Amino acid sequence: MARRTGLPKFTVPSLTPQQGAEVAGVLQERLNSLNDLALTLKHIHWNVVGPHFIAVHQMLDPQVEGVRVMIDQTAERIATLGVAPVGTPGALVAAREWDDYSVGRAEALDHLGALDLVYQGVISAHRQAAKDTEESDAVTNDLLIGHLHELELFHWFVRAHLESAGGQLSTQSATTEKEAAGKKRTP
Ligand SMILES: [Fe+2]
Repeated sequence: MARRTGLPKFTVPSLTPQQGAEVAGVLQERLNSLNDLALTLKHIHWNVVGPHFIAVHQMLDPQVEGVRVMIDQTAERIATLGVAPVGTPGALVAAREWDDYSVGRAEALDHLGALDLVYQGVISAHRQAAKDTEESDAVTNDLLIGHLHELELFHWFVRAHLESAGGQLSTQSATTEKEAAGKKRTP
């Protein structure tokens, strides 16, 4: 956790300063992840081209709005726990353990294949964070579960474009964004 020094001077009632710091640390990682996701969604909104442009372009803005609300809630929960949320881009890049989104101008299904992997990463980490705070802070756990309701819905919107009538995902075995982008759905 960049810039975090020592324990908070106060935290929410019934948590120790140590617990407050630990929960805030979990949330700082989620804050980084959500800030990265909001920027990535806008990047796709601007770079998607081809016959399905307008559907994907327009689908993404409500997702950006939803994620921005989650970002604000996450940062304010960190502050409520007595810790300073870190929202600067340099700190995000220094702390993150994933690579920058790797697809530039590309067709809708290419971006959606890559975005499927992005959502898989964000949601898995969010679920882990919810699990990690289940015992120590029910309020933070509830916040993260609330985010997951929406993140998993957004992920389904993306996946529905990649799905065949038989329920197969065209990106099933892809492990990188570029690989996922190269797989087109076959009817
Ligand atoms: Fe726009």
